[in-house]
Amino acid sequence: MKNTSYKVLVLGSGGREHAIVWKLTQSEFLHSLYCIPGNGGISKHAKIESSIKLNEFEKIYEFIKENKIDIVIVGPEQPSVEGIKDYLSQYKIPVFSPTKIQAQLEGSKIFAKKFMKKYNIPTADFVVAENYEQAKSLLKEMFSKYKDGIVIKADGLAAGKGAVVCNTLEEAENTIYEMMIKKIFDKAGEKVVIEKKLNGIEISVIAFCDGETILPLTYSQDHKQIYDGDKGPNTGGMGAYSPVPFVSKILEEKIYSQIINNFLCGIKDSQIGYCGVIYFGLMIENLNTQPQPYVLEFNCRFGDPETQVLLPLLKDDFLQLVIHTINKNLHNFSKLSFENKYACCVVLASKGYPLEYETSKEITGLDEAEKISDVLIFHAGTKKIDNKFLTSGGRVLNVVGIGKTLQEAINTSYRAVDKIYFENKYFRTDIGKKGLIYDNI
Ligand code: AMP
Ligand code: GLY
Repeated sequence: MKNTSYKVLVLGSGGREHAIVWKLTQSEFLHSLYCIPGNGGISKHAKIESSIKLNEFEKIYEFIKENKIDIVIVGPEQPSVEGIKDYLSQYKIPVFSPTKIQAQLEGSKIFAKKFMKKYNIPTADFVVAENYEQAKSLLKEMFSKYKDGIVIKADGLAAGKGAVVCNTLEEAENTIYEMMIKKIFDKAGEKVVIEKKLNGIEISVIAFCDGETILPLTYSQDHKQIYDGDKGPNTGGMGAYSPVPFVSKILEEKIYSQIINNFLCGIKDSQIGYCGVIYFGLMIENLNTQPQPYVLEFNCRFGDPETQVLLPLLKDDFLQLVIHTINKNLHNFSKLSFENKYACCVVLASKGYPLEYETSKEITGLDEAEKISDVLIFHAGTKKIDNKFLTSGGRVLNVVGIGKTLQEAINTSYRAVDKIYFENKYFRTDIGKKGLIYDNI
């Protein structure tokens, strides 16, 4: 990788990938941009190839050869967990992604929990059940220990639906029956983790990591449930904001000393190593008294929709960071720098999401919304046909507002939301509210 101008291929099709592609367009190191499979919004910035699927590694390689791609950036977890980095490495293609083994930190909850235990990364107490009979008896043990409830997690990838919080033994028994006998997640639910339910507030810590150096972005917070007030089923994420006003010095010190440093020691000591983005999903217990962070999950990629609020605030050259990560040169950056501002992202979803949802609704008002200053719109489930944008997914658009205060960022994003129309558009009206309680600015 000696060029100073790179042809970059981004893999993925969501709001996260649109934000990545948009950020890449600002890089002084960018020659040209490609995206597989992309979406309607991404097609404004990159040449998209929507006929190739993300599990078609050979076709992806053909595309790379044909277009003389210099660097591949992987957005979602699936290709990393399936080993795209290992596959393309045989052809000496630089890939911004963890290897198949490294991606097990997301791809196997059992692997992740054992790693955390071994390297003293605070996480909920847990047991592993290898089969249904064992799970049934372990449930009783865990419930007698943790009367407040437990969480059952399918070992493998389950599209964000694999963790079920159970407040009663009956609920827990139903859950393991669904996962291990009815196999609703197929092989992913053959083994499960059963863990203590934690109580507190969740935040996301997302960092670049080259195996030696780890560089966290600012803190962000997702809104996973579909309805206001964190009610209803989990989704891929209905909104996010950053930075998070309630991360105190004392909490930050614990995040660094107990989580980030122990993670780094763990990947070195175990010789797993790491290259790419590592996402720590944290639960903070006792926020107002003795805050204690626990890792709920690792993800081996950027968060969605967290990326949509993080990248607009990042001042460093994103492509340069990617290159330094791949080349194990991240130590060249002592710290990442961010605008002294807030960003808030409201997700517009199709009626029915996160279950079966409507599609092919015409979207209007995008230009008007984008004209508002400090507004960015990242597409997720859209497609462009005859110069019109149509809905094509559950999460359709990410409407981002930037402001000097969190309140200002929230107001700006909702002003833009009001300008956009598609039939039965759905969104949460309380994105950022949890941060406002603590925002003294
Ligand atoms: P995970 O896939 O492990 O991130 O879990 C998905 C969601 O389930 C998290 O974002 C939390 O809202 C919830 N969750 C997971 N583990 C726990 C836990 N031990 N206690 C309470 N909630 C949890
Ligand atoms: N925002 C949660 C995730 O990306 O997994």
